[in-house]
Amino acid sequence: MLDTTALNQQRNFFEGHAAIWLFGYGSLIWKADFAYLERRPAYIHGWERRFWQGSHDHRGTPEAPGRVATLVRAEGSICHGMAYRITPEVLAPLDVREKNGYLREKVALTFVDEKTSVAEKSSGTEQSEGLIYLASEDNPAFLGDAPLDEIAQQIANAHGPSGPNRDYLVNLAVALRELGAKDAHIFALEKQLSQF
Ligand code: BEZ
Repeated sequence: MLDTTALNQQRNFFEGHAAIWLFGYGSLIWKADFAYLERRPAYIHGWERRFWQGSHDHRGTPEAPGRVATLVRAEGSICHGMAYRITPEVLAPLDVREKNGYLREKVALTFVDEKTSVAEKSSGTEQSEGLIYLASEDNPAFLGDAPLDEIAQQIANAHGPSGPNRDYLVNLAVALRELGAKDAHIFALEKQLSQF
């Protein structure tokens, strides 16, 4: 299995900063088990969330990997999530936890003005640079696209040390609805999952 921990510790895009924004688009939206100074709903431009990354260590096993979220480039799209203002030392344990293919990448975030209506969720203007953990298609745990019903079936069958893969998807869909975020891939997968 690949281990990206050491690579990530070289990826110090915010050297010298006392605090940085970490943008969560997957489990970090609904499970932030680290200290943060502040959190704000936000989105990033040019990306879409996909269940295309294999999970051999958290939501599956090497014999029966699960699937978890990563991002793919999609011009004109936006991806909603949750931004956390953290001190940089918070990243070290995340580097270890997400070592199965995720690399730190710098992104531009836009904060959602929490007073705007659901229909206007993409109308924020306040921006900042931030960090994501990205599993790109060249990492060995990348599974890529498959028919939605096959992805849902794989998720329904997979379990790992962090629990059932099903819970990851359901928790994500619930959290996205709470944010008022649209995500056709996630909501279609959630619907498919309910068959299994
Ligand atoms: C996220 O929620 O953004 C995330 C969580 C784990 C690995 C990569 C990304």
